[in-house]
Amino acid sequence: MLATEDEQDCQPYTCKRSDSVFAAIEKCLDNGVGACVVVDEGKPVGKVSLDDIRRAILDGSAIHEPMLDPLVSHMADPLGNGQLRNDVNVDDKILSPIVTENGYLNSIRLDRSEQYIQIAHPDLTRHEFRAVLDAFISSWVSSKGPYIGKFEEEFSAFVGLPHGIAVSNGTAALHLALVALGIGPGDEVIVPDLTFAATINAVLYCGATPVIVDIDPLTWTMSAAGFAAACTPHTKAVIPVHLHGRPAEIGPIAELARSRSIFVIEDCAEAHGATYDGARVGTFGDIACFSFFANKIVTTGEGGMCLTASDSLARMLRELRDHGMVPGKSYWHERVGYNYRMTNLQAAIGQSQLWRIDRILDRNRSIAARYRHALDGIPGIAFPPELPDSYGNVVWLTCLQVPAHLRSRLIAAAHAADIEMRPFFHSLSAMPLYEKYAGDCLHSRALSETGVNLPTSRSVDDQVIGRIATLIRDVMGAAS
Ligand SMILES: Cc1ncc(COP(=O)(O)O)c(C=O)c1O
Repeated sequence: MLATEDEQDCQPYTCKRSDSVFAAIEKCLDNGVGACVVVDEGKPVGKVSLDDIRRAILDGSAIHEPMLDPLVSHMADPLGNGQLRNDVNVDDKILSPIVTENGYLNSIRLDRSEQYIQIAHPDLTRHEFRAVLDAFISSWVSSKGPYIGKFEEEFSAFVGLPHGIAVSNGTAALHLALVALGIGPGDEVIVPDLTFAATINAVLYCGATPVIVDIDPLTWTMSAAGFAAACTPHTKAVIPVHLHGRPAEIGPIAELARSRSIFVIEDCAEAHGATYDGARVGTFGDIACFSFFANKIVTTGEGGMCLTASDSLARMLRELRDHGMVPGKSYWHERVGYNYRMTNLQAAIGQSQLWRIDRILDRNRSIAARYRHALDGIPGIAFPPELPDSYGNVVWLTCLQVPAHLRSRLIAAAHAADIEMRPFFHSLSAMPLYEKYAGDCLHSRALSETGVNLPTSRSVDDQVIGRIATLIRDVMGAAS
């Protein structure tokens, strides 16, 4: 439980009764709790939550009376012993005001002991709120609108490439990349066994043949040796996946691919900001593909981007994204294209996220370190292997390995305790749909059966980490 003792620290969690609904929305978004204590002349008089505000927006009351006052849920005891109305839902109980004898706000207690903790939660703040409102009110809600270009420019600059082509999702980015590189029937494309199915599905969309390779148990993804061993005269492309924020051995893979005229498409969906040899992942191949799904490091809700250093590939990707329409020649098509465009509303969210990416990455890294500390010494669990210095990994979701026979029990116990944990992806070779494209994949099978993702978001504070550590200790202890 965290009680902030001075007035200053209460600021993120309090609104004034005289504040506007807009100001309250921003406070509730920024503090990551989704609620605020409402204060009048220094005394807490109620709470307001984003749920209350959403209802009041929908029924119009927050529009006709844009001040907070009518929305405030009043105290059960108006003179103030610190007990506000607490019967709405668990999230409403997270914040409690601590008051002085005279009823003045002294501090705020944050209590997440009963909160439902999701595996991931988009980090949306006043910046996203303002930008998306701006995009909405401007009426540029389709893929035409100024945020698209800004997001493309700023995200590609962040990665270190000159061209960014925003698309509707990460899967579309992979598909467009393969089409732009001319991959089709008869071509082989090498993919790792442990990845989200989108990586291999995109190859199959093109009628090409996926070749699945085992992962390296150190990096958890494709190695240069694994790639080299799978190459044949038909290999046209390779898709190294920087899984769980951990870079593949991308320098040597890209070098080897270049020497054999094999295209490299980097799947960076889970690794925004990761580096290899000091350069951002995405800068090693011909085309890099990112996802901005709601659980990703930078999100646009749904969304993706292709990045490239090549002017001609960038032109091709833009054309393919837009129905194959020839630029500057309306409704003239010279190739079969797709509608894979991102909307201005999504790009508005993405651009605002980007301002804070370093903070998001720092936060995730700190959460992973605190988990490591809290879980240290629990028998049977293993943290991801440390990578050599050339690998600059980022934390997407905190990961853990547990004995395979205990994983379902752990996830069920977590679920019963209102904590979401997720198993790693099934290895592709384990699924009848894909097994014919794979050889032996012992390492990915073993990792897939033992890996667990732990909640990693703004809601994960030391109290939540303590809840999760106790749970893991209980399950592991009961089993030993
Ligand atoms: C490794 C990997 N590749 C591709 C994708 C596909 O991205 P999207 O869900 O945006 O289509 C994902 C995302 O979920 C992913 O984790």
